[in-house]
Amino acid sequence: MNLILLGPPGGGKGTQAKRLMDKFGMVQLSTGDMLRAAVASGSEVGLKAKAVMEAGQLVTDEIVIGIIDQRLDNPDTKNGVIFDGFPRTVAQAQALDKILDAKGRKLDRVVEVRVPDQLLIDRVTGRYTCAKCGAGYHDTNQKPKKDGVCDSCGGTEFLRRADDNAETVTKRLSAYHEQTAPLLPYYEGKGLLKVIDGAQDIAKVTEELIALLGK
Ligand code: AP5
Ligand code: MG
Repeated sequence: MNLILLGPPGGGKGTQAKRLMDKFGMVQLSTGDMLRAAVASGSEVGLKAKAVMEAGQLVTDEIVIGIIDQRLDNPDTKNGVIFDGFPRTVAQAQALDKILDAKGRKLDRVVEVRVPDQLLIDRVTGRYTCAKCGAGYHDTNQKPKKDGVCDSCGGTEFLRRADDNAETVTKRLSAYHEQTAPLLPYYEGKGLLKVIDGAQDIAKVTEELIALLGK
């Protein structure tokens, strides 16, 4: 199954993608994670993307479409993927349709994880991840069982994203409403769109997603 998780910054796309991966054996393709890896490695793509990401704007369609096209050639994607943070513009969605078509694959579902704006700033500014394994946490919503120790790998170092401050989140939210929200009618028109209430607690959102995907 190939699935798109659509939603605002802090909506829970990454959190839910990881949980669905465990359940359905699909691979998470997060363009945000891929771009952050490119920035960290200092590659040409990373150099182009760094300032744009820190400003809370979208990197060019050309860059992300290229990354996804290439990534889908990896055999680990054959059993299905969860697109997390891609597509984000109608041009990216149209390109994805063509890419999947050329590879003899198709999109099965698009799920909007809907969360009101007022919840998102706190979610994003409270987020941190394990430096060793990438497991995600939140200052109040999702703490590790033992303070300062990662539940998954026992790591004790944690990271916060450069773009996870209130000012940049506000810009990312504007980009979402202006450039990404038009994808909702795009996929609605194709009969692929479902909506999940992403304001519920994490486990409840996963439960509803699993029920929806199992149908
Ligand atoms: P990206 O990394 O995709 O960031 P984003 O879309 O802003 O989304 P986030 O990762 O912030 O949120 P999320 O929905 O994954 O939330 P999470 O599960 O972590 O993109 C970053 C940047 O890269 C973009 O701004 C852009 O510059 C560039 N980029 C990426 N893709 C691009 C593309 N296709 N085109 C152009 N540019 C692109 O949850 C957040 C926090 O909330 C966590 O701490 C979690 O514990 C907590 N939480 C999650 N769910 C719940 C819940 N139900 N209840 C309570 N707390 C919750
Ligand atoms: Mg994410």
